[in-house]
Amino acid sequence: MSIIKAIKHRTSNAFMTDEDVASDLIRQILDAAVCSPVHHRTDPWRFLVIRGEGRKRLGDVMADHLAQDIEDPESPKNVKFLGKIRDKALRAPVIIVVGAAKSDKTQALMVEDVATANAACQNILLAASALGLNAFWRTGGVTYSENTVSALGFEVGTELVGFIYLGYPKKEVPPKTRKTAEEFIRWMEN
Ligand SMILES: Cc1cc2nc3c(=O)[nH]c(=O)nc-3n(C[C@H](O)[C@H](O)[C@H](O)COP(=O)(O)O)c2cc1C
Repeated sequence: MSIIKAIKHRTSNAFMTDEDVASDLIRQILDAAVCSPVHHRTDPWRFLVIRGEGRKRLGDVMADHLAQDIEDPESPKNVKFLGKIRDKALRAPVIIVVGAAKSDKTQALMVEDVATANAACQNILLAASALGLNAFWRTGGVTYSENTVSALGFEVGTELVGFIYLGYPKKEVPPKTRKTAEEFIRWMEN
């Protein structure tokens, strides 16, 4: 498939089976991820692959993040709510947390290393799609919390850019009808 066709064919599909994804497939996908462009050779990509029981630890991190803003997290209503949040980490057999580590290089700009990590996420989505897998890019407030960075064992100063839920499709969803770029373009030619 041409690259343009592959880009247009990719569609986010949240419905995944419980079937695990082989480690060598995950490695192939992450090898594609680190082909994203990078300035000053900072190599900022950081990936945490969460699967199996590890997902329960992620669920706890997600629930703890929300619990800190809840007055009474022990109330039956909130216990139920936080239980549902924990279960969100079980929506796919594999979750890849993607971050950009802070570089020691003086020329490095965090905004650019975050751009590299975001481009890596798109490579993950495209590589997964090419391998017949679903990948769904999610974030939420938990992504941007320093507590999450440390709870998931990333280096201090790392900025997380996404939680990519990965698995085999439960049901196919048709490719979306996409806009053309026309309405977003301005040309400056003289
Ligand atoms: C940085 C980023 C974060 C996102 N976070 C979420 C999210 O937390 N929950 C969600 O339902 N969709 C989220 N999305 C959107 C989906 O990943 C997806 O792109 C969207 O549903 C459109 O589908 P498409 O990828 O097939 O165009 C996010 C997208 C991006 C780029």
